[in-house]
Amino acid sequence: MKTLEQKYKKFDELNKQAEQGGGLDRIEKQHKSGKLSARERVEVLLDKDTFVEFDKFVTHRAKDLGADLEKFLGDGVVSGYGKIDGRLVYVFAQDFTVYGGSLSRTNADKIQKVMKLAMKMGAPVIGLNDSGGARIQEGVESLAGYADLFHLNVAASGVVPQISAILGPCAGGAVYSPALTDFIFMVKETSYMFVTGPDVIKAVTHEDVTKEELGGAMTHNSKSGVAHFIGNDDAHTLMMIRELIGFLPSNNMDDPPVRNCADDVHREDENLDTLIPVDSNKPYDIKDLITTISDDNDFLEVQPHYAKNIVVGFARMGGRPVGYVANQPAFLAGVLDIDSSVKAARFVRFCDSFNIPLITLVDVPGFLPGTTQEFGGIIKHGAKLLYAFSAASVPKITLITRKAYGGAYDVMSSKHIGADINFAYPTAEIAVMGAGGAVNILHRGKSEEERAKAIDEYNDNFANPYKAAEIGYVDEIIYPRQTRYKIIQALDSLKNKRIAMPQRKHGNMPL
Ligand code: HXC
Repeated sequence: MKTLEQKYKKFDELNKQAEQGGGLDRIEKQHKSGKLSARERVEVLLDKDTFVEFDKFVTHRAKDLGADLEKFLGDGVVSGYGKIDGRLVYVFAQDFTVYGGSLSRTNADKIQKVMKLAMKMGAPVIGLNDSGGARIQEGVESLAGYADLFHLNVAASGVVPQISAILGPCAGGAVYSPALTDFIFMVKETSYMFVTGPDVIKAVTHEDVTKEELGGAMTHNSKSGVAHFIGNDDAHTLMMIRELIGFLPSNNMDDPPVRNCADDVHREDENLDTLIPVDSNKPYDIKDLITTISDDNDFLEVQPHYAKNIVVGFARMGGRPVGYVANQPAFLAGVLDIDSSVKAARFVRFCDSFNIPLITLVDVPGFLPGTTQEFGGIIKHGAKLLYAFSAASVPKITLITRKAYGGAYDVMSSKHIGADINFAYPTAEIAVMGAGGAVNILHRGKSEEERAKAIDEYNDNFANPYKAAEIGYVDEIIYPRQTRYKIIQALDSLKNKRIAMPQRKHGNMPL
């Protein structure tokens, strides 16, 4: 019979073995390529000493092709729960040192276990992905594992926040599960996402493309819009995830976490009175307004490199998290196009799912004209934003800083599609179109002199907020310097907002 000492020794040995994943050599290789190991990542992400690991001794049960595969304790994923700023989160970290972090049946079962617990307990799930996709040796078992995860990702969508970090080369199923989650973080130079890699592309389409160009962090943050954040290295990226979690409620039944606010809610800033240029064709940076009015000037921008003509992100106002959606006059004059509509629509849907009030800042000349936009389906994509704002039942506050022209006025959280409180600056211009365009249509063939006079008249009559204020489409016209307090006061008045919607299975968003 084994002694107690021998039993504990075996336990210690197994623990040590599990903690070494695919072995010290492979961990060393991971470090050399600038990446942390799966366990190190979990430690960096969570509050100190809060990680509790599940299924540390699970091994694969592959038959057929994988029957003689070496078994590694944990089978390529480290999973469990811990805390971020004292709040419960569930986490899984794929271990690239075990079969390239590829997904086996048992590996998928481990991930499902934490996802199901997260849904039951109402806590966010954070996936740290570093995986070659479906484990080739397990065939349909690994495909089934992925499909199970996709199904759960969808079931958890809008119930608990789901956050993905891409921390290595991720292919196949390893990119589709993150794509179903709420936010994707990538790391400069060490993370990649693609459905098929450069070699397959070369064979099929004869295109030459590098891994970095095809699916590197900047590609997905600036070109494809697949990713939302980019970190400098693993540790920096994990810190960014902690920051994001700080703005989010743990689940859809909770309110977002309120913090004590040391920043004076009455704080006025006279510089704001001159932020909007007198010449309405001159740009200014809407982020200056957002950072000036937010608590401690702190703003976490989401997708800062993609569709820069719209700015979205999180801030706090009087301690309460809010989501900002703002046209950016400093980029393409803040015009709405396909990419900016889709970017903003997805953000609005997220905020609405998780009870985060929306503050919309409007300075938009309209939708971008042209065949590229029309053939690309701007009608359908612009409708996504219209749908998202209209359907959102969270408190909605809108401020028109300058241009609010045409359909874009309607779309950008106007009173008519359900905004609760609509502000405008005295510099606001609310009309069907700008003066030049209107005069071209209404005074075709007139002399230059007559046209100039008509433009002046149009500007006097329409390029202001007073017509909208006369009929109550704008509730209050405010000085820019007052913005912070006005918004905080409005948020306070909306905090018990409840609206009843008719019963339905779900609406049919223009996807
Ligand atoms: C089993 C795998 C694996 C996989 C990598 N490995 N991917 N083992 N199944 N899918 C193993 C390698 O054999 C190697 O083992 C170790 O992981 C490291 O891989 P390397 O190739 O040496 O690393 P690197 O050069 O960095 O390249 C990483 C990679 C590449 C880009 C991920 O390995 C790769 O292209 N893998 C295959 C990707 C893929 O096509 N997956 C299937 C997708 S289909 P050793 O023992 O040498 O350390 C899919 C379907 C899901 O996922 C459904 C989608 C809707």
